[in-house]
Amino acid sequence: MEILTKDDKVSVATLKMPEHVAIIMDGNGRWAKQKGKLRTFGHKAGVEAVRASVRFARSNHITALTLFAFSSENWKRPQDEVSVLMELFKLVLNSEIKTLHKNGVRLRVIGDLSAFDTKLVKKIKDAEILTANNTDLQLNIAANYGGRWDIVTAAQSLAKQVSDGEIAVEDINESAFDAQTAYADLPPLDLLIRTGGEKRISNFLLWQCAYSEFYFTDTLWPDFDENKFLDAVHDFSERQRRFGKISEQVT
Ligand code: IPE
Ligand code: IPE
Ligand code: MG
Repeated sequence: MEILTKDDKVSVATLKMPEHVAIIMDGNGRWAKQKGKLRTFGHKAGVEAVRASVRFARSNHITALTLFAFSSENWKRPQDEVSVLMELFKLVLNSEIKTLHKNGVRLRVIGDLSAFDTKLVKKIKDAEILTANNTDLQLNIAANYGGRWDIVTAAQSLAKQVSDGEIAVEDINESAFDAQTAYADLPPLDLLIRTGGEKRISNFLLWQCAYSEFYFTDTLWPDFDENKFLDAVHDFSERQRRFGKISEQVT
């Protein structure tokens, strides 16, 4: 793997860094196929790209990194592949949690956990409790996550508050709704990266990406590393974010 040169490090210091980055980690299956291997070989290889992304985010003081690991639609894949992904999730939680904790990373998992087996849910909860007070990097893993699920869950929660008489219908506004969605306590999503060449959102952070910058790369997930992350951040740094205003108002 290439490593960042001294010049790269100097230039990182001058970049406008995103506070919150999300990544759709796509392309594992194709990466493996290109090598004549089973798709699951690609998922296993993808773990190193996760480590590299966490290292990059931490060392560049990105506040939050949200990784899409398994969508609510991925259950439709062949049973063998789903089983390997669940096992891999457990293995990686076991092998990485100590290092993450030592490095000041707070780990949280977002998604409908009710579909996971009790052992996995316990591992997730233990990891969340262990790292709850860490502040160097907020690492969020989206597993059995769907953007529509997130929105529907938020709507249900507000509806319940209304029916319990805690709030009035008129109290529901964008910020009240936002507070009920996943990671409401994190900074707004600045940059959404998708590897693997597809240019779609695949039901990821639908509510949260309203004003995110999108970065698509053909790099397949197992080939993603700190230099590729740096390319995305460079690209982000050159964007002008107008939030509806005109250029002269934001420069
Ligand atoms: C992303 O890679 C990982 C998961 C969805 C779990 P894919 O498995 O979708 O890889 P491709 O897109 O088929 O190459
Ligand atoms: C999106 O990738 C989900 C994850 C990366 C976890 P998919 O490979 O499932 O997306 P589609 O099916 O190509 O839209
Ligand atoms: Mg895919």
